[in-house]
Amino acid sequence: MKKILALAIGILVASGSPVLQAEDIDLGEGNLQFRNMPQYQSYLQNNDDSQMTEYGGSVPHRKHDGINPLPKGYKHAQPYLKNLWLGYPFSYQYDRARGHTYAIDDIFKIDRINRYSEQAGLPATCLNCKTNTIPKLIEEKGEEFWASEFHQYRPMHDGGKHTIGCTNCHDPDNSMRLTITSIPLDEALKRAGKDWRQASRNEMRSLVCAQCHVEYYFETGVHGVAAKPHFPWDYGMNPDQMYEFFRNGIPERDGFKGQFVDWIHAVSKTPMIKTQHPEYEMYYDSIHGANGVSCADCHMPRVRVGPATISSHHWTSPLKSDEGMSACMTCHSDKTPEFMKSRVIYHQEKVWRQLNIAQEKSVRAHEAVRMAMEYPDLPFPNETIINEAREMVRKGQWFWDYVSAENSAGFHNPSKSLETLAYSQQYSDEAVRLAIRATNYAIVADLDQPIQELVPPIMEHSRKLQQSQEHLDSHPWLRYLPLLPEADLVWDGYKRVN
Ligand code: HEC
Ligand code: HEC
Ligand code: HEC
Ligand code: HEC
Repeated sequence: MKKILALAIGILVASGSPVLQAEDIDLGEGNLQFRNMPQYQSYLQNNDDSQMTEYGGSVPHRKHDGINPLPKGYKHAQPYLKNLWLGYPFSYQYDRARGHTYAIDDIFKIDRINRYSEQAGLPATCLNCKTNTIPKLIEEKGEEFWASEFHQYRPMHDGGKHTIGCTNCHDPDNSMRLTITSIPLDEALKRAGKDWRQASRNEMRSLVCAQCHVEYYFETGVHGVAAKPHFPWDYGMNPDQMYEFFRNGIPERDGFKGQFVDWIHAVSKTPMIKTQHPEYEMYYDSIHGANGVSCADCHMPRVRVGPATISSHHWTSPLKSDEGMSACMTCHSDKTPEFMKSRVIYHQEKVWRQLNIAQEKSVRAHEAVRMAMEYPDLPFPNETIINEAREMVRKGQWFWDYVSAENSAGFHNPSKSLETLAYSQQYSDEAVRLAIRATNYAIVADLDQPIQELVPPIMEHSRKLQQSQEHLDSHPWLRYLPLLPEADLVWDGYKRVN
């Protein structure tokens, strides 16, 4: 009877958007066992992507678009994202995160991966944080898996199968103890002389999230295993320490000699680094992290499912419901949920304002370097000064992105967020100053315009659009991109269509 009831709840919850079918949670043996656990009923709530909060929430939308209302755009959009990532696949599509049950569906539909070609352009590594199949795939293919062709994994995931599931965090052969299945986290801890097998239960309540909610880069075949993910934590987890690691820690790569480069910005020709969701790094030395409050303390409150009381497996914004806010109330019981919510938004508002200023200063820095590069008859032998300016562009944007890509809009660590943005702004200002000096102040007047007029935001851009000259002529910065040959989709979601 209990089982039937539990199953009925599951079907009700999932009926809105049946993205994930029960049989898809995990491979083989464990399946039935997992489905009968009350945590599974709670897990199915990750299918609910109907609600936003002031700065967060789960409704999918384009993060740069502040014009179209939901579901395409959002009031707190960041209009310059496409400009800042120009020349890199992130400029084609960058959407808000939603629940874990969508991880597979979203990665197979994103325009960042080249679906117009036999070659995806990004390695299979991208699946590392979207699925529970990695240990099995590594067992089958060995280290060759990382650099293998992404497209070949589409059919086996048809319908959103094998998304993030129980075995990403639990060992079913050991009473469901928390476990680490992520190879790059295991190795990053080892390099720091730590072993998660010795970690306390409380540490594990954050470390399981640090498997994915972190910054990483891909190794190259020359200096490691081709396309294997690597956490840049060897000098520490703060933005300046990771930046130093990218400067020194990695042997020679193209671009800046000896430095790590994700891509060359199309307009300023700066070798750039893209940050990815450093939630764990932002949090670990916050007031909560320092006090031993874990990710699960705030994102997995105790809830009732039928007769059982369990840790919620609906990982989402605590601000969406009373249930979510009940997590805060276990420690902040002397305050009301409304007060606690208002304190979150208080921090987020302040961070968001500075984030937007930092973003605009980064755009201006790219434009200043462009003007200096193209200035006829530079007064000094200036490649050196322009390269110094580029170093500041790169650094300014890395510090901005550390806060921008982090998903809490600053709440996870308000003071670190604001300091990081202050540095971002200082580096970008310095880039502009150096570019001006390289031209002996000749570009001062041209630069002296409101940013929206100097460089308007690029609102529309995709792989398909880049196949059209008309599109490339529609914005001065888009002219710096190569025209792509006309092509039709080779892959659409899970299916080959061409
Ligand atoms: C003190 C409580 C607390 C801790 C600890 C905490 N978070 Fe959060 N988290 C929040 C709040 C509050 C938000 C903001 C939600 C919003 O804006 O709607 C948030 C936002 C997020 C988001 C974005 C959610 C959205 O709606 O877009 C992610 C992802 C996230 N946290 C992951 C983590 C991870 C991973 C950890 C541990 C490394 C962690 N959090 C630690 C409270 C916490
Ligand atoms: C992203 C990591 C993660 C995933 C995925 C996950 N869990 Fe958990 N689970 C946790 C954490 C963290 C706890 C709290 C453990 C603790 O405090 O010791 C937990 C606790 C549990 C517990 C112990 C009782 C409780 O509720 O606290 C069970 C049983 C459990 N999970 C089952 C599942 C099942 C079944 C699935 C798949 C539907 C699943 N978990 C998916 C992280 C995860
Ligand atoms: C295996 C990788 C992985 C692990 C482990 C993981 N996450 Fe996630 N998480 C993701 C991905 C990927 C997304 C975005 C999915 C999408 O948008 O399709 C996400 C999204 C989220 C969101 C946003 C949901 C929303 O409604 O907007 C929150 C909050 C979150 N995770 C918290 C956590 C917490 C807390 C833990 C640890 C208990 C954790 N995650 C462990 C990969 C992971
Ligand atoms: C496991 C205990 C615990 C949980 C759960 C918890 N906090 Fe805290 N929180 C603390 C501690 C400890 C401090 C440090 C200040 C203090 O000692 O009161 C703190 C401080 C704060 C502060 C003041 C510091 C600042 O950054 O402004 C805010 C705001 C806050 N918490 C919000 C939240 C919210 C929102 C949630 C739920 C999403 C939450 N907390 C969940 C323990 C917790």
